[in-house]
Amino acid sequence: MTIQVDNVKVQFGNVVALAGVSLQFGANQIVAVIGANGSGKSTLFNSITGFVDVTCGSIRIDGTEVVGVPAFKRIANGLARTFQTPRFDPFVTVEKAVMCGFYPVSRAGFMRSIFATPSARREEREIADKCDGLLHDFKLDGLRHMQMGELPMGQVRLVEVARAVANKPKYLLLDEPAAGLTKVEQTLLGDEIRRLSKSGVGILLVEHNFNMIRELSEHVVVLDRGAVLFTGKPDELAGNRDFVNAYLGTSGH
Ligand SMILES: Nc1ncnc2c1ncn2[C@@H]1O[C@H](COP(=O)(O)OP(=O)(O)OP(=O)(O)O)[C@@H](O)[C@H]1O
Ligand SMILES: [Mg+2]
Repeated sequence: MTIQVDNVKVQFGNVVALAGVSLQFGANQIVAVIGANGSGKSTLFNSITGFVDVTCGSIRIDGTEVVGVPAFKRIANGLARTFQTPRFDPFVTVEKAVMCGFYPVSRAGFMRSIFATPSARREEREIADKCDGLLHDFKLDGLRHMQMGELPMGQVRLVEVARAVANKPKYLLLDEPAAGLTKVEQTLLGDEIRRLSKSGVGILLVEHNFNMIRELSEHVVVLDRGAVLFTGKPDELAGNRDFVNAYLGTSGH
């Protein structure tokens, strides 16, 4: 049960966003991806989820090649993500925003929902109950009737993570989920990420907060101008000269 990225290249015109990236992560693992602005972190996420076309290389999910497979099919097969810049209708309520996360795997089709068949109504009730559970887990109960446009960015991100985990993904890609969160919210998010990982979800985490990475992940991949500069344990990074030079300057302070 792994996502295996092999020698993936992505080019936008003359810009090489990924220059042959390989990595893998599996169930119960939290792999962190770090790198300077423009190093290709979001493009890596977009490649895995099918939001950009890869120029060459292979991406396998549980052994099945997904290059060329549309994003919606990858998502229906257990892949979920958040965006660096969350996208929500500002007028939708928190509750409805989280509920949307259940529909990619909903069994009730369009016609059954329209005609409100008993099974569709039962499923709607199940979804409402599960939604309550998620709002509770992410401490969003009190905000359920607020509109997304009224929330500060930290809470918008929490709603986005709650929505992403609604359909019980096998793999979860989080693009800077802690940006703009208060310390309390960061702890809550960290606990949820750990809990999801323990329950079997494989997680790829782009994060600038190195303390959070140290606490959550055993494995880190450093991207530098579209290439893998380092891969290993977070604690090994401090002693890696390439990393120190690239991120802290050649003096190593
Ligand atoms: N859709 C696009 N069209 C053209 N160029 C793009 C596109 N998406 C990304 N790029 C370019 O590809 C490179 C990698 O960008 P990417 O957004 O993946 O970096 P990042 O590591 O996520 O950066 P940040 O830390 O700022 O989020 C950058 O040079 C960026 O300008
Ligand atoms: Mg990015």
